[in-house]
Amino acid sequence: MAVALLVAAGSGERLGADRPKAFVVLAGRPMLEWSVEALRAAGVAEIVVALPPGRSPPPGCVGVPGGATRSASVRNALRAASGGEDVIVHDAARPLVTPAHFTAALVALESADAAIAAAPMTDTVKEAGEDRRVTATLDRSRLWAIQTPQAFRRHALESALAVDDAVLAAATDDAWLVERAGGTVRVVESTPENFKVTTAHDLRVAELLLCERRRG
Ligand code: CTP
Ligand code: MG
Repeated sequence: MAVALLVAAGSGERLGADRPKAFVVLAGRPMLEWSVEALRAAGVAEIVVALPPGRSPPPGCVGVPGGATRSASVRNALRAASGGEDVIVHDAARPLVTPAHFTAALVALESADAAIAAAPMTDTVKEAGEDRRVTATLDRSRLWAIQTPQAFRRHALESALAVDDAVLAAATDDAWLVERAGGTVRVVESTPENFKVTTAHDLRVAELLLCERRRG
C-alpha cells in the first residue's frame, strides 16, 4: 500500500492569517484535515505530516518537523515513512483534493517513476523579458498547470531528494527533481477545482466549495 507525505509546514505568508496556513479553520476544521479525510477515503492508511513548530499531527497521523523549504519538508517526512513502495506527496494547501485524485495518480504510476496531477492550461501563456516585451507565445495544447498529489516510486523519490539544499530550494515541485535525475514523469489530468489556497481570495472560494460539498 502507498504511504502519503502531507506537507503542512509552511507559514502561509501570502495568506497572512494568524496561524500557519494548514491550520487555518476551513469549513469547520483545520485545512489539513480535508486532505487527511480524502487520503483515508482512497484507502491510504499511513500518513506522515510535515509540521510547523509547535503543531501536532491530526489523530492517527505521524508528525515530523518541517524543513526550511518545501522539498526539505518532503525529505523529512519520507525519512519517517515506514512502509510502501509507492509514495504520494500532497500539499495541505490543496484541501479540495478528492480520493479519485490519489487513486488516478497511483494507477498512472504503474508506467512511470512519477505521476503528477495537472490541469490543462486554459489561459494563453506568453513569455516576456524584464522590459515586459513579449518574446514568445507558448503552444497551450502542450502546457499543463501542475498540482499535487504527485505519486512516486519510492526509490526514485529518495534518489531525487538526495541533492544539495540549494537544489532542493530551487524545486517548486518534487517531480522536477525526478526529471533532472532522468526519471519518467507522467501528467494525470486533474481539474482546476483542486487549486492551491495561497491568498485570502482562494481561502474564500475554498470555504464556499467545501461548505457546498459538506451539505452534499
Ligand atoms: N510547505 C512545507 N514546508 C515548507 C514550505 C511549504 O511543508 N518549508 C508546504 C506548505 O505547508 C503547503 C505546501 O508546502 O502545504 C505548498 O506551499 P505554499 O502554498 O507555498 O505554502 P506556504 O509556504 O505556507 O505559503 P507562503 O509561500 O505564502 O508562505
Ligand atoms: Mg511557500
